[in-house]
Amino acid sequence: MMDWTDRHCRYFMRLLNPSAFLYTEMITAAAIHHGDAERLLGYNDEEHPIALQVGGSDPEQMASAARKAADFGYDEININVGCPSDRVQSGQFGACLMARPQAVADCYKAMQAETEIPVTVKTRIGIDDQDSDEFLQRFVDVIAAAGCRKLIVHARIAILEGLSPKQNRTIPPLNYDRVYRLKRENPELEIVINGGLADIRQVEAVLQHVDGAMIGRQAYQQPYFLAELAHHFNPDWPLPERREIVHAMLPYIESALADGESLHRVTRHMLGLYAGQPGAKAWRRHISEHAHRPGAGIEVLINALNAMPIAA
Ligand SMILES: Cc1cc2nc3c(=O)[nH]c(=O)nc-3n(C[C@H](O)[C@H](O)[C@H](O)COP(=O)(O)O)c2cc1C
Repeated sequence: MMDWTDRHCRYFMRLLNPSAFLYTEMITAAAIHHGDAERLLGYNDEEHPIALQVGGSDPEQMASAARKAADFGYDEININVGCPSDRVQSGQFGACLMARPQAVADCYKAMQAETEIPVTVKTRIGIDDQDSDEFLQRFVDVIAAAGCRKLIVHARIAILEGLSPKQNRTIPPLNYDRVYRLKRENPELEIVINGGLADIRQVEAVLQHVDGAMIGRQAYQQPYFLAELAHHFNPDWPLPERREIVHAMLPYIESALADGESLHRVTRHMLGLYAGQPGAKAWRRHISEHAHRPGAGIEVLINALNAMPIAA
């Protein structure tokens, strides 16, 4: 999730869930092509399995991004066909590509020709007034004919003009049935549903119909949900206490600090760890107030933990 997630976030999330497939935020193919690959694509081995999400519509640049993703050892490369922002539309990629399935198919083919790792697509169920099973199926037919076998479908349309990206994550209604039908009509495709999943029962319910569930905001805002999911689906994996997760982060944070990273860049992802628990506000406040200070180190987290109610 752009502006929210990064490698520190994914390291933290991996501690909370040993098996979830983690996705990077969207990185443009142009940036990957021209920019500092290590800064943009570097990650920690612990993050596997991990997918790189790219945005773009130029097959050559997308192929170059796929090559670099493979060189960096990513497990999957995902094409963004869901982002509705103006910036992305002016670059002719993101959700507006739903109207140009052949352009996505051309990118897919150019990318898959470069690498053995699967190239997948994340899309919406429609755009603007193109809000029908037929429109979605036509899009899927074209990219499946190119060879794509896995789609992540955000179960709401994107409105390309007049709504901000944030509004485009809340105002168009969720329509899970559309995604379930897509799976029924295309049983050979791996279909992962996304949008609005916020508790275990909901996740269990959607998994009756599709092959996987992708969780965005809830995983970021209430990261312990990831641990609860991991434990629910694999009770052999003991549910860690929140403070254990914090302690497990400390060596990682020390090494990030030694590499010149500032504390708050890592701890900002941990603010929601106690969401809904006693002491959640104090946890958030202590870290927010102290992690920005020059020279701040892991004692900020230790002090925040020490101030928590003992059961937390
Ligand atoms: C701050 C923010 C940034 C996002 N950035 C991306 C992105 O880079 N790529 C993407 O495919 N989706 C992005 N999304 C959308 C989410 O991946 C997801 O599709 C959407 O939030 C609906 O799922 P959720 O209800 O589980 O959050 C972003 C969402 C948020 C809140």
